[in-house]
Amino acid sequence: MLNMNINSALITGSGRGMGRAIALRLAQEHIPVIINDLDKRLGEETQKLIQDSGGICSLKIGDAADEDFVDDMVENSVSEYGSVDILVNNAGVLRPTPIVDITLAEWEFVIKGNLTSTFLCTKKVIPAMKKNNWGRIINFSSTAGKNISTVGGAHYTAAKAAILGLTRHTAKEVARFGITVNALCPGLINTEMVRATISDELVAQYANSFPIQRLGEPDEVADLVMFLASDKASYITGASLDINGGDLMI
Ligand SMILES: NC(=O)c1ccc[n+]([C@@H]2O[C@H](COP(=O)([O-])OP(=O)(O)OC[C@H]3O[C@@H](n4cnc5c(N)ncnc54)[C@H](O)[C@@H]3O)[C@@H](O)[C@H]2O)c1
Repeated sequence: MLNMNINSALITGSGRGMGRAIALRLAQEHIPVIINDLDKRLGEETQKLIQDSGGICSLKIGDAADEDFVDDMVENSVSEYGSVDILVNNAGVLRPTPIVDITLAEWEFVIKGNLTSTFLCTKKVIPAMKKNNWGRIINFSSTAGKNISTVGGAHYTAAKAAILGLTRHTAKEVARFGITVNALCPGLINTEMVRATISDELVAQYANSFPIQRLGEPDEVADLVMFLASDKASYITGASLDINGGDLMI
């Protein structure tokens, strides 16, 4: 059960995958949802799913790593709903390139898509959350952030590790304003990001290698987000929570 005073939740990259599952789950709890994605078709699909099930949402198509776009997206959302109380920094991009083949452009693309997007959206929502003395920021790191990526390259691992540092530091700065900041570290989750990167055969091999012998499902990650967004999680901040079927136990 979520706090009754939540005006809206913003989920970056919610056109598909875990972001979509989280947006749908929040909307089921009667939270107005701001869907963001780079891809208009995917964003509209999520929007339709939410509206068809009676939920309230707005669609903001654009790059969560572009400062001007993020400024407009958050300002418009605050005007529309009064505040953005939950931010899920879910948008991310993965490339499987070996380090010697990573161009500077690809390095910057992956760092921007994962880390800079998280920084920009976090920075922008905090002032409004401070006013309400309540907020939830949930960042997407990965098992890659604690170990190395299963399918991504060094840039992805570096970005996801940096998100853990960004999470801890921000959590400490904003704790006194009633804002918690936590990171999720999913293992291999059954989404397009994985399916588009590795073969079904490799997916099956990885699945069998995990103590819980399967991939995670987006809905299972959405459950954890719902818990972190709730008042039941009010004493958890600066944490990184593993959800990986036992792939990494530290
Ligand atoms: N799938 C996994 O196994 C896994 C594991 C650990 C962490 N993660 C992380 O979880 C998050 C969600 O992953 P997923 O598997 O659902 O991904 P996905 O690729 O299926 O979906 C990501 C969505 O984000 C959008 N997006 C990408 N960059 C964006 C940007 N700059 N601005 C706006 N939208 C953008 C994409 O268009 C896409 O619709 C990512 O941060 C990813 O790195 C995924």
